[in-house]
Amino acid sequence: MDSAYLAEWANLLVRWLHLIAGIAWIGTSFYFIGLDNQLDPPRDGNPRVKGEQWSIHGGGFYHKQKYALAPAELPEKLHWFKWEAYWTWISGFTLFVLIYWWNASTYLVDPQVLDLPPWLAVVLSASMLAGGWVIYDQICRSNFGEDERKLSIAMVALLIVAAVLACNLFSGRGAFLQVGAMTGTIMVANVAMVIMPGQRRMVAAMQAGREPDPKDGRWGKQRSVHNTYLTLPVLFLMISPHYPMTWGSRWNWVVLLAIVLAGALVRQYFVSRQFGRNPIALPLTAAAVVGGLMIVLRPAPGPQLAGIDVPSFTEVQAIAASRCASCHAARPTFDGIAAAPKGVMLDTPQNLRRWAQSMRQQIATEAMPPGNLTEITPEERAKLLAWIAAGAPAN
Ligand code: HEC
Repeated sequence: MDSAYLAEWANLLVRWLHLIAGIAWIGTSFYFIGLDNQLDPPRDGNPRVKGEQWSIHGGGFYHKQKYALAPAELPEKLHWFKWEAYWTWISGFTLFVLIYWWNASTYLVDPQVLDLPPWLAVVLSASMLAGGWVIYDQICRSNFGEDERKLSIAMVALLIVAAVLACNLFSGRGAFLQVGAMTGTIMVANVAMVIMPGQRRMVAAMQAGREPDPKDGRWGKQRSVHNTYLTLPVLFLMISPHYPMTWGSRWNWVVLLAIVLAGALVRQYFVSRQFGRNPIALPLTAAAVVGGLMIVLRPAPGPQLAGIDVPSFTEVQAIAASRCASCHAARPTFDGIAAAPKGVMLDTPQNLRRWAQSMRQQIATEAMPPGNLTEITPEERAKLLAWIAAGAPAN
């Protein structure tokens, strides 16, 4: 078994794990944020209880109570939530290394953006992962952390800097994943470095017969709220590689920020609903942003095709053979590619015609060939597009 083939399996298994852990984590996060926001005043008179909720799920009744700070006595068994978050990061980081660092020249570097040697791209990528957390954490711990409005402005500024930086260092696709990975790292670090240590201190205080420090509770809550607003944006960034129209444009950092904003607004809407409000302007704004992007990013075939005649099928085959088929073939010859990526084969006349429509977006946005590894020329792109636009004729 060759290494590229094994890498495909590793990719599948780690990605599967990443999805499972991510669903478990975001699911609990959504659940607890919703629970916290929908507590009713307690009825049983325990002065330490801040609120309670009755619910029914899976054929059973549940009665949950939240304590203002902590119960009078530490319960014998306490359920913690951390492995969902940790495994999401472990699997996500592994996947990031496996794809974007291992094959940095294919996925992370785009010489048209910046001609970085792969090792330097990896160093910069790692620095952004770590640096994002350090800066974010320092901002939260500074006196900005006490003022929600100042803090939000600082967060948005940080995100803008990260998006501009990533989009000017890396390939569009790599940049979107980089910002997603950086944000995901911040979310997990919130759990590992702030929420968990705070909770451990609270428990230790109770074991020592002291009241826990309310600051630990407050800080944990603040980070947990940040995490909830980041969920939808990060999920978009994680699936963005499938959608070259989002990262393939010249102003891709603006697109990144716009969609991230739309995601955060939608999350804000659902959180508001938990308080009984219905700020319909939020999802409408998000829809307007996305609608605006759809219009701005629409492909403009006109100028690209001007003056280009529909090439002969023989010519199309020759272009595909030299620029695409080293990877997109039944038996790829490109180093590190074990099987035709996404099952797309561009090696025979039948296959070329079959995949013509899928080729269009990849060629027009310059998503393919990745990093233009096979050095396709603009004329060749225009010819392939003209051929597809003419209905992919077989002559
Ligand atoms: C260096 C190898 C390589 C070359 C050369 C290459 N591709 Fe790809 N292609 C890939 C990889 C890897 C993927 C899968 C990307 C992913 O993981 O999302 C892919 C995916 C695709 C897809 C499917 C996209 C999707 O998400 O459904 C199409 C269509 C495509 N390539 C067309 C082309 C065309 C057309 C050319 C030539 C102009 C080309 N490729 C050249 C590696 C290559």
